[in-house]
Amino acid sequence: MTQRILLIVSGGIAAYKALELVRLLKGKGLAVRALLTDSATKFVTPLSFGVLTEDHVYGDMFDLKEEREIGHIQLSREADLIVVAPATANILAKMATGIADDLATTVLLATDKPVLAVPAMNVRMWHHKATQRNLVTLRADGIHILEPDVGAMACNEWGKGRLPEPAAIVQEIERLLVEAPQPAALLTDTSRTINAPDLSHANLIGRHVLVTAGPTHEPIDPVRYIANRSSGQQGFAIAAAAAQAGARVTLVSGPVSLPTPRGVTRVNVETAREMMAAVEAALPADVAIMVAAVADWRAADEAGQKLKKDGSGQPAPLALAENPDILASLARHAQRPGLLIGFAAETEKVVDHAVAKRSRKGADWIVANDVSGDVMGGHNNVVHLISEQAIESWPEMSKAAVAKRLIERVSGELASR
Ligand code: C5P
Repeated sequence: MTQRILLIVSGGIAAYKALELVRLLKGKGLAVRALLTDSATKFVTPLSFGVLTEDHVYGDMFDLKEEREIGHIQLSREADLIVVAPATANILAKMATGIADDLATTVLLATDKPVLAVPAMNVRMWHHKATQRNLVTLRADGIHILEPDVGAMACNEWGKGRLPEPAAIVQEIERLLVEAPQPAALLTDTSRTINAPDLSHANLIGRHVLVTAGPTHEPIDPVRYIANRSSGQQGFAIAAAAAQAGARVTLVSGPVSLPTPRGVTRVNVETAREMMAAVEAALPADVAIMVAAVADWRAADEAGQKLKKDGSGQPAPLALAENPDILASLARHAQRPGLLIGFAAETEKVVDHAVAKRSRKGADWIVANDVSGDVMGGHNNVVHLISEQAIESWPEMSKAAVAKRLIERVSGELASR
């Protein structure tokens, strides 16, 4: 059966991208019905949406003909998923407080269908405490949020707030149509937790948590590099757990093949020096958790061309230079995060080495893990949490469980300060 999208377009400059979104969704064989707010019609015309959706375009709640033929309840009933794109700060605020003063917000209040909101706005509006508070509420209500992109804005500023590309929105819609055909939490099952922050970690709400993850790749020549076996799983799990707890999360990731956790801003890097720059650019942060397996050394001189065997039987010389230690530099940084946590992957004398590493690098805590088994790339981890006062050994558990427990500890620490 054809799946049906009710696309609510609110009034922002990105509204024009909703036309491309309709075209792509129709190309996927989905039925799309459009509903424009009054301010959306100042940016784009109902006629364009009518042509592309091949359907009536909705907008005015008090249009008697619309209400007689298809009321606001019917609009919701006849959709499998409601998508608000672009979602302005204004419509998000109305959704979070339950205001229903036009057809779009009335449908959103009356629906029991899954709702995806795709915010787009000026960077300062996005970072405003009111908007961030509304997003926490919406997530807790079971509304799915596709975070905006970072980049240049129509208002000549730069930052987070751009509507994601229509293709990325389509991808999220397809995922939700498969994954979440259940109704949103609003009218029915309030125990549903998809995308909802765990409010027991209230201390993390709105805090900036910076996480590094994965390996780094250090080029030797255009085709070869120095790397390690880190899969990035533990760092990604920590970023996901922090976002789930309501934090604003920046994840600086080396080259890995993992999807970005929901609600996390990801910055991809290759080398240790790029990772260092991305970490510094992301400051200030309330908490930094350095999980990346950063290469200690890089090739001192990266060859411009592929190195060749010269027939002498002697290998090409490979001189190494030491990489910056990101964790240690953050510890000395003028904007040192309030809580700085490192990881220590050890194959022997795990706790002893990690205790020494904590004081040498100036971290508050070190999570020591024994990587003598198949931890790197595996799903489980055995760790010890080392602070100045104590050493705690945790039983073997999944990397997701380690992440959750660590974030609980972080939350507790922030509360106690
Ligand atoms: O010295 P070692 O690599 O064992 O230290 C591990 C910890 O230090 C991890 O938290 C890792 O992310 C961090 N680190 C770093 N920059 C480096 C090396 C390690 O941030 N160059």
